[in-house]
Amino acid sequence: MNIGIIGVGSIGSTLAKRLPAKGHDVKIANSRGPETIDEDLLANGAQAVTAEEAASDVDALILSIPLAAMPKLAPIIQALPDETAVIDTSNYYPHRDDAIEAINNGQTESEWVVEQFGGRTIAKAWNAVLAGVFADQARESGDPERIAIPVAADDAHTGEIARSLVEDTGFDAVDAGPLTESWRQQPGSPVYCTSLSADQVVDALARAEKDRIPPRRDLAIGVIMDRADDPSLTIDHHYLTQLNRVIYG
Ligand SMILES: NC(=O)c1ccc[n+]([C@@H]2O[C@H](COP(=O)([O-])OP(=O)(O)OC[C@H]3O[C@@H](n4cnc5c(N)ncnc54)[C@H](OP(=O)(O)O)[C@@H]3O)[C@@H](O)[C@H]2O)c1
Repeated sequence: MNIGIIGVGSIGSTLAKRLPAKGHDVKIANSRGPETIDEDLLANGAQAVTAEEAASDVDALILSIPLAAMPKLAPIIQALPDETAVIDTSNYYPHRDDAIEAINNGQTESEWVVEQFGGRTIAKAWNAVLAGVFADQARESGDPERIAIPVAADDAHTGEIARSLVEDTGFDAVDAGPLTESWRQQPGSPVYCTSLSADQVVDALARAEKDRIPPRRDLAIGVIMDRADDPSLTIDHHYLTQLNRVIYG
């Protein structure tokens, strides 16, 4: 598949290495220009380009940028042909992204993103896996330790491409339904960054309670900030997975 990736931070950098290793033709872009992209990310064959070039002639365009930056990409996204699957990894954290009133009032993050793109549909995928888990815990299909990732999408073609790419990155993909239901995989939900198997993801999506999700997200952030200067703790993906399981579970 021809794939563009815009955003090569914690999540995008793993995508940039893993998808070419599965035989995909991958172009990657950040906000500062191709010359600023780390050579390590090109080791498996990804090509560093501008954001406009990353979106040109691709079957899938993966956006792995802060949610608040999405409106800046609207001209690029709105110019895409219908058949290009747009896949978004983003999450909303009010302390980081500034308050977005519509999301605070219950609009799903994905539907807000679709609105920024003038109605252009997306899939939400890879948002519910910690960057450290994504980098370290990929497994072959069938491995009993393989972790699953929920994928929400309205459009069957977009959802199918997103799920197949999630599988290619070393994780089981679980169909999490349409974007109106994607609150079930937002920060604070039982499935969010808790490293579950496919069966457990299905169960966690079903158990999610919409009103409890934002306060639990904020509670987890409060605990992390409170413990951040504790020299006896290593706040890595192992710690965060356990914390999320306790608070979101
Ligand atoms: N970190 C995690 O554990 C994790 C897990 C799941 C999902 N997510 C979500 O995935 C998204 C990316 O997270 P991250 O941690 O990988 O972020 P990050 O490390 O902050 O990286 C963000 C990337 O987006 C690029 N970017 C920002 N604005 C851009 C623009 N207007 N045009 C092109 N590129 C732009 C940045 O490029 P420059 O450096 O050149 O500005 C950078 O490469 C976020 O929405 C986050 O919530 C994160």
